[in-house]
Amino acid sequence: MPKLKVAEPKEIGNMLIKNRFVRSATFERMATEEGKVTEELLEFYKPLAKGGVGLIITGLASVHPSGHGYPNQLVIETDDFIPGLNKLSDYIHKNGQGCKAVLQLAHNGRQSMMLGLEPIAPSAIQEPMSNNMPREMTVEEIDEIIEAFAEATRRAMEAGFDGVQLHAAHGYLLSEFLSPHTNRRTDEYGGTTEKRVKIVEKIYKKALNKVGKDYPIMIKMNADDFIEGGIDINESKKIATFFSQLGFAAIELSGGMWEVTLRSKEELGWMPAMLPESRVDITSKDQEAYNLPYAKKIKKSINVPLILVGGLKSLDVIEKILQEEDADFIALCRPLIREPDLPNRWLKGIGDLTCECISCNSCVGSVIQGKLECIYKE
Ligand SMILES: Cc1cc2nc3c(=O)[nH]c(=O)nc-3n(C[C@H](O)[C@H](O)[C@H](O)COP(=O)(O)O)c2cc1C
Repeated sequence: MPKLKVAEPKEIGNMLIKNRFVRSATFERMATEEGKVTEELLEFYKPLAKGGVGLIITGLASVHPSGHGYPNQLVIETDDFIPGLNKLSDYIHKNGQGCKAVLQLAHNGRQSMMLGLEPIAPSAIQEPMSNNMPREMTVEEIDEIIEAFAEATRRAMEAGFDGVQLHAAHGYLLSEFLSPHTNRRTDEYGGTTEKRVKIVEKIYKKALNKVGKDYPIMIKMNADDFIEGGIDINESKKIATFFSQLGFAAIELSGGMWEVTLRSKEELGWMPAMLPESRVDITSKDQEAYNLPYAKKIKKSINVPLILVGGLKSLDVIEKILQEEDADFIALCRPLIREPDLPNRWLKGIGDLTCECISCNSCVGSVIQGKLECIYKE
């Protein structure tokens, strides 16, 4: 087999990633009610770590009680969570033969499934999928959330993670601040692009002060919200350029937010399913890599690694993207739920190389109803 680009190591900040495969953050629903790591969660990560992926990004971990959006979600809100999370990073390192571990840090903002929680958001704009009506955050609350993300970064480092990723995509709190659709503030946190990125800028600087400049802080953001008045490619290009200059170790490009599910296939040109960032029915190669057109536009404006996610299922498609330098890393979510050892299978040329995931989103249904799994997996 010819030498594959995807097999080549590359750095993200000071982390040397053994190949270009990244496991994109995936909510597992396997933590305790409180949000602590369980044996079940550790066991879930074992085949993934052994499966050849170079970097695992965990499912979203809540940084503050006001943003704890899902049942049995990981939590990193106090130092009490450090020992359990330490077991998780250790487990990934022990099983992963050089695989790196990054914790995804999140606040759900107005997109919360937790009944009884009053969602907070940059502005009081109703979330039409859940009908959640958030309360506009005060400046004091914004300060508290900035501190919460920065403290969570310190805790992740103390828990042995090689880095963190801020979840600023898919309509969660930081994404709500970035988007002019959900951020209608008129103070220092809303209005121009410079003001909408302010909360992320403050989090990054505060976190760096706590962990030192060598600790990799990555970010996941929307290249397009797919909502009128939201982020489009012109806006995301500006935001990504700013994040790159600020010093984020890598930028993962995705798109969408919950309310996109209410838009039609005719409007979008593709079928919005339960999770619009995870498109369904990808049955041909030209439907794969659906965020690639955005990556092509953004790649040249940034000077940190670009991680591309979304519908990547064929090795030759992946190779072409890497060869043409439209992305530096390829992130996979659903294909690794189905086949955690897919990177090894591809890297070693085992089998016919077809990815078994059919992009049906039954895994989304399973995680809403119970816990993460592919219902078709034997
Ligand atoms: C069950 C499920 C859970 C997800 N959880 C997260 C998450 O915790 N954080 C996140 O940033 N994205 C999450 N995503 C989105 C994925 O990381 C990814 O961006 C998307 O599924 C597209 O990649 P894919 O086509 O390889 O699945 C989730 C997707 C699925 C299907």
